[in-house]
Amino acid sequence: MRNVLITGGAGFIGANFVRYLLQAEPGVQVINLDMLTYAGSRENLMDLPNPGNHQFVQGNICDRSLVERLFEVFQIDTVVHFAAESHVDRSIIDPEPFIETNVRGTFVLLEAARKAWLSRAGLANSQSEQAVRFHHVSTDEVFGMLEPGDPPFSEISPYAPNSPYAATKAASDHLVRVYGHTYGLPYTITNCSNNYGPYQFPEKLIPLMISTALEGRPLPMYGDGQQVRDWLFVEDHCQAIWTVLHKGDPGNTYTVGGGNQLPNLEVVRTLCEILDECRPESPYLPHEQLITFVADRPGHDRRYAMDSTYIDRELGWKPEHTLASGLLKTVEWYLEHPEWVDTIRRGVDYQGWLAMNYGERGGI
Ligand code: NAD
Ligand code: DAU
Repeated sequence: MRNVLITGGAGFIGANFVRYLLQAEPGVQVINLDMLTYAGSRENLMDLPNPGNHQFVQGNICDRSLVERLFEVFQIDTVVHFAAESHVDRSIIDPEPFIETNVRGTFVLLEAARKAWLSRAGLANSQSEQAVRFHHVSTDEVFGMLEPGDPPFSEISPYAPNSPYAATKAASDHLVRVYGHTYGLPYTITNCSNNYGPYQFPEKLIPLMISTALEGRPLPMYGDGQQVRDWLFVEDHCQAIWTVLHKGDPGNTYTVGGGNQLPNLEVVRTLCEILDECRPESPYLPHEQLITFVADRPGHDRRYAMDSTYIDRELGWKPEHTLASGLLKTVEWYLEHPEWVDTIRRGVDYQGWLAMNYGERGGI
């Protein structure tokens, strides 16, 4: 791993991973390709460690000539592919960008990797299987929904996506696997549960609830709030990806979870309690009074959970954060970075999004 193309490295997990990699591997050159959609920002890349090893390129992963040029100019040997449209609610309102970026964008990257790394018959002579790697960052949502007593999803769970977002991520997983099976592309995939932590765009559940509670506005709880997610602190996810890049076997998939399965209502109540303690002078105490039940997400999956036994046993990865320690770090980070939230919201039509997503639900 010398010249690493990170796609979507100005988004939430990508920016955390860029930071992680520059710190962990001072000898690695990072080429960060990001289109800067509403979800990506240069603000997420301020004060990077070893900034001389990071080059930002603003561009679209669907732009084939750009992607091919980056492979050639920077002699890319490793791809870590985060770039995606990632918000389920947005995919329900307008699925098209999800098809374009998540499916076609992944295809363009795979084709560029095939052209750069493989001969017609398979791996080029100059490249051993160990010398190149295409790592695809995917989600638990490709497996669909669990019933209350079901065991968690694992590497052998069948695909059964339920939202336009999940369907496009499933398609991208299949494409990656096919490039391995048909052309011999050395790939790995991680399917991960819900992340939270610093730099998460404030329209996803946890940062939305923190920033909205601080303003004393209603906290919109979809449906009955009993949907269960398996929460993973973003640094633990970065470490899992890094571990797979170093120790994972090409052609393998790893399911990655936080081991923290909680209904949304409990997560938001915990956040409110942390805010009560951190902001005892707030006029909105107790923040829990702000929780407001609104119309549910169409097709809302009731439960996800991930089994991390395989990545733990084979590669020795397990999460370091409990939900309590991760949530506390996250709340503290948002309290210490109000200007980040302001800048991020000002850079996009944030009010427009709130009106579109929450207007008909009863508003927030
Ligand atoms: P995000 O929405 O915060 O960031 C996505 C980034 O991709 C943004 O910087 C955006 O500008 C960029 N991007 C979008 N379309 C692009 C395009 N066509 N060309 C170049 N860049 C483009 O997403 P995230 O939450 O950081 O998720 C990153 C990846 O991890 C996604 O693939 C997502 O499916 C996966 N994932 C996310 C979670 C989670 O809980 N957030 C969990 C499991 C897997
Ligand atoms: O499971 C992994 C997935 O987690 C990733 O693949 C996605 O990219 C990521 O966005 C996330 O998807 P979710 O739909 O689970 O995340 P979100 O933060 O949008 O919602 C979390 C839960 O909270 C979900 O059950 C819906 C609920 N919710 C969300 C919002 C934004 C609310 O109740 N109210 C809200 O306002």
